Amino acid sequence: MSLELHLSGKTAIVTGGSAGIGLATAKALYSEGVNVAMPTAASYAARNPERLENAVSAIQSLPTPGAKVIPISADLTKAEDVEKVVSTTLAQFSQIDILINNAGSARAGSFLESTDDLFLDAWNLKLLGYIRLVRAVVPHQKSRGDGRIVNIVGGAGRTPRPNFLAGGTSNAALLNFTKGISKELAEYKIRINAISPGATATERAETLARQNAQAQGITVEQVKAQSIQSIPLKRIAQPEEIAALALFLVSDLAASITGTEIIVDGGSTPGV
Ligand SMILES: NC(=O)c1ccc[n+]([C@@H]2O[C@H](COP(=O)([O-])OP(=O)(O)OC[C@H]3O[C@@H](n4cnc5c(N)ncnc54)[C@H](OP(=O)(O)O)[C@@H]3O)[C@@H](O)[C@H]2O)c1
Repeated sequence: MSLELHLSGKTAIVTGGSAGIGLATAKALYSEGVNVAMPTAASYAARNPERLENAVSAIQSLPTPGAKVIPISADLTKAEDVEKVVSTTLAQFSQIDILINNAGSARAGSFLESTDDLFLDAWNLKLLGYIRLVRAVVPHQKSRGDGRIVNIVGGAGRTPRPNFLAGGTSNAALLNFTKGISKELAEYKIRINAISPGATATERAETLARQNAQAQGITVEQVKAQSIQSIPLKRIAQPEEIAALALFLVSDLAASITGTEIIVDGGSTPGV
């Protein structure tokens, strides 16, 4: 038996595709012959346009006959921009088979220094950002009787961490949302699942390590050593590992899997 994904010719929206897990997933999808739309916040693009341009060039340099990648300037905290992502993707590719919800940037920090804005920013981009995109793509997928959605969530949704409460509460709510909406979407053959990475080697992990070191009054190296020490398999995951699982979940190999969470954390999660 060979594990053929048969994704060629499909179209995916990958949010946060300019770096880390999103970029690895966009590359993996494109390599399978999938057209990829990558929405990135306009303000971010203005701040760091090279990052998105480099990501698009890196993807286009992969040897994939036929597939296309398009950047879309959109702030996923705004409902109207989310609508634009969907209409632009449909105008370009006529279909949206796959949605990878991945853009998130919750800050770490001690609770007493966590303002309402810190919580609201995290919830608006990740929790509501994911929900907005699901709401925007589902009517199209419903009419086609097919859809595959993966929410990149995170281990702190199930295992809270004291210095990561804005991100953790957002992730916990997304697990609830993923499970809850899966039953409604199943009727239309739309599958939705969550992947919860543990520590994964991306720029964001570096930023969080710096913020955690500051909150705990220790060095970044100590934070990283503590992190690896707490992982039973004693390794940090690579973004490509999360991407590979996402591709499996959006393929027909996972045709009976919906409403579930798969944890990729080297065995760290303590409960069942
Ligand atoms: N890395 C980990 O250890 C880890 C663990 C658990 C969960 N996760 C989750 O995995 C997802 C990806 O994380 P990552 O580590 O790959 O992060 P990353 O390397 O920092 O990449 C984050 C991506 O999100 C985009 N983004 C950030 N803020 C945005 C905004 N306001 N609007 C639109 N896009 C925005 C970034 O694009 P710009 O170029 O526009 O900045 C970038 O493409 C996140 O949801 C994160 O919570 C990561």
